[in-house]
Amino acid sequence: MAASTETDIVVIGAGAAGLMCAATAAYQGHRVLVLDHANKAGKKILMSGGGRCNFTNLNTTPEHFVSANPHFCKSALKRYSPWHFVELVERHGIEHVEKAPGQLFCAESSKEILGVLLTECEWAGAEIVLNTAIKRVSKTDNGFSLATSAGTITCQKLVVACGGLSIPTMGATGFGYQLAEQFGLTVLPTRAGLVPFTLQPDDKAWLAELSGISTDVVASTAHARFAEPMLITHRGLSGPAMLQVSSFWTPGQGVTVDWLPQVVDPVAELVTERQRHPNRGLERWLRQYFSQRLAAALTDQFGWQGNLQQFSNERLSAVAATLKGWSFKPSGTEGYRTAEVTLGGVDTDAISSKNFEVKSVPGLHFIGEVLDVTGQLGGFNFQWAWASGWCTGQAL
Ligand code: FDA
Repeated sequence: MAASTETDIVVIGAGAAGLMCAATAAYQGHRVLVLDHANKAGKKILMSGGGRCNFTNLNTTPEHFVSANPHFCKSALKRYSPWHFVELVERHGIEHVEKAPGQLFCAESSKEILGVLLTECEWAGAEIVLNTAIKRVSKTDNGFSLATSAGTITCQKLVVACGGLSIPTMGATGFGYQLAEQFGLTVLPTRAGLVPFTLQPDDKAWLAELSGISTDVVASTAHARFAEPMLITHRGLSGPAMLQVSSFWTPGQGVTVDWLPQVVDPVAELVTERQRHPNRGLERWLRQYFSQRLAAALTDQFGWQGNLQQFSNERLSAVAATLKGWSFKPSGTEGYRTAEVTLGGVDTDAISSKNFEVKSVPGLHFIGEVLDVTGQLGGFNFQWAWASGWCTGQAL
């Protein structure tokens, strides 16, 4: 790249939203330059969905997103639906599978999704320049000027697609938030979302022993409830149930776990079990629902030793209450180091929901995760990146 470059549009961030926006805008005939400080485009796409990228969710609705303004995401999600992205993926011959209802993953590898976006950028004529640090952005009379490690770049329109703070080792920075503040926008407090919980020492002591065990639960915190698997790790509690709840949890709050969502009336079941097998231990009954290790640990932890004939009705009710509503207070979360997303971000009140332009700064746009719009687990975050990127690219 020359020491001084002039182009129509600069997109900062060669991630999901930025690449989608760049290709769409370049197809409109604009000269588009995508800048990224990383040495590779789309790193999060590559690591997503366990290497198979859960690239969309067919059941996407605005209710699957957390935002201070729950209406903001509606327009873009309607105009660029999951089916539009499926059509793009199929046009490129990528095979996909529906792993859980609505959740589409690559049959082979997430490399294929990145391949689709890079091919689209190439066909459309959008140029991607990596390893480029952006030192300063200033407003000019008819656009923007960027001081970068590759020289000065001027453009008429600037799209900020820098993503959030999660996984700094993959290139995440707070640069998008800094730019927003520079242009007078409010950045709502950010925190890690879709992230495992860490535990207080007492809970960690018995649960860490069970690392690797996954069991179906219903996990809840104020205003949110998810029926999904929970994974016990050596650091705390993870798996889809905990990741989902983490996006609704605030420090100091408790989390409740129903260990037996499949049993509607455990007291009745336990009373019947006591009648039929008075000399059996409770652990034996638990084993029909849990692995042997987990059944033994629950029995030890909650002091449920002894034969069932020694359990009064009151004690059986207490067992049932613990299994249906065990509460714990996380010590925190694993934070941005392992979080899939960042909650909060650029306040959408200042942004047009049609073309993602900053209302007070014509030509400046914010898209993707840098905005205060965060999807639940299951392909919603990529759908947001595609939708916000496409709607902006169309409108530039
Ligand atoms: P994204 O983070 O993709 O891109 C931002 C780009 O900006 C990066 O390339 C970065 O290098 C660049 N950048 C940052 N600061 C910069 C600076 N100062 N200068 C220049 N460039 C800069 N979602 C989903 O729907 N399905 C899934 O399966 C998964 N799985 C998943 C797994 C893991 C481990 C993580 C961490 C996340 C997911 N996600 C997910 C979430 C999803 O990856 C995320 O929401 C999108 O990638 C957000 O897209 P953006 O384009 O907004 O940011």
